[in-house]
Amino acid sequence: MMKILVTGGAGFIGCNFVRRALRVKKDWKIIVADALTYAGNLENLEGLKEKYNDRYDFIKIDIRDKESVDELFKKEKFDGVIHFAAESHVDRSILGPLAFVETNVLGSVNLLEASRKYFKSDKSRFLHISTDEVYGALGDEGFFTEETKIVPSSPYSASKASSDLFVLAYHKTYGLNVVITRCCNNYGPYQFPEKLIPFMIKRALDGEPLPVYGDGRNVRDWIFVDDHNDGTILAFEKGRAGEVYNLGARCEKRNIDLVKLLIEKLKACLKDKKDFKEPEIAFVKDRPGHDFRYAIDPSKAESELGFKPKISFEEGIDLTVKWYIENEGWWRRIISGEYLEYVEKQYGGK
Ligand code: NAD
Ligand code: DAU
Repeated sequence: MMKILVTGGAGFIGCNFVRRALRVKKDWKIIVADALTYAGNLENLEGLKEKYNDRYDFIKIDIRDKESVDELFKKEKFDGVIHFAAESHVDRSILGPLAFVETNVLGSVNLLEASRKYFKSDKSRFLHISTDEVYGALGDEGFFTEETKIVPSSPYSASKASSDLFVLAYHKTYGLNVVITRCCNNYGPYQFPEKLIPFMIKRALDGEPLPVYGDGRNVRDWIFVDDHNDGTILAFEKGRAGEVYNLGARCEKRNIDLVKLLIEKLKACLKDKKDFKEPEIAFVKDRPGHDFRYAIDPSKAESELGFKPKISFEEGIDLTVKWYIENEGWWRRIISGEYLEYVEKQYGGK
């Protein structure tokens, strides 16, 4: 049995990863380590202990706390770490960058230090989940490759770029067995309703205007979360030590087109509900430093790892819209005082 630590496993991508990996990697024992911040939710992992028993455990731990991290690693002797835990929302990083430095930089270095000291063997691997945002913005043309210069724009992406550099430095300096993946925008079930897709669905269902930043022409490159997670497993198992792999599904959309598509999907799903009214789109003040376009070239992951996304955008969006309609209780329970305060700070009365 391989003992794998998954940090951030109670968040959006992490919880989908844990569910998938427990299903397909029968020789893995997964220990989830998560601080349960506003974005982490134990409900996302419900039923796993009962179903997988000895192959699954959860520990509440803050990766900023070096002593607790050291203690855990000393005790468990991991065969691998898959590091999802992060402060992940760009707009929050603009409102308050420090938490991003603490978790994404310091927290990541705490994990690297513990890995270097207490990993079970030289074969134990540290997979760092990074983002295409470290490459900054593209214009109308071109794609991000692994060779693209690192020029992050937001405090979030600067903190992720910094942690990437530490990960690579630990490989060069200490020979730690590391791999980095950089994925594009994920969507799917369990995404916290602050990110574009679930936020717009929630607003539409609540009859609120949909705030599109700037003129809505910014482009994001989308991937269904399970496809990202299949790429994560491949990178963990087949990636070359010290290498970076871009993950993406070649699926660019302008924000405004995506928001209009979501409205159409919601209208189709809710055609029998008389109280659903078509929401209005409100163009609001742009995000400061808003990257214009992201577009991943995943050729290296395709050729070296055999990475191949399976879910089309049409299928993935249908599944996601349906999930949010059917799981209204899940996102309503999340909308606490903290959420309302954040939305007020970020969007004012709009
Ligand atoms: P998320 O915000 O939904 O979840 C983050 C998780 O990390 C939460 O469970 C939270 O409780 C946990 N966490 C935060 N601070 C912690 C700390 N100090 N100690 C322990 N746990 C802590 O994020 P997500 O969207 O699932 O993203 C996961 C990872 O994937 C991040 O590293 C992010 O940078 C990266 N990523 C995200 C996307 C995307 O589109 N969402 C795309 C590419 C890469
Ligand atoms: O590219 C990968 C990154 O994707 C990840 O590293 C981040 O963790 C993740 O949050 C995501 O970052 P983005 O900033 O691209 O995602 P977000 O959902 O915040 O915004 C997507 C686009 O939609 C972006 O161009 C901003 C725009 N937007 C977003 C919100 C929340 C709006 O126009 N209105 C909104 O209310």
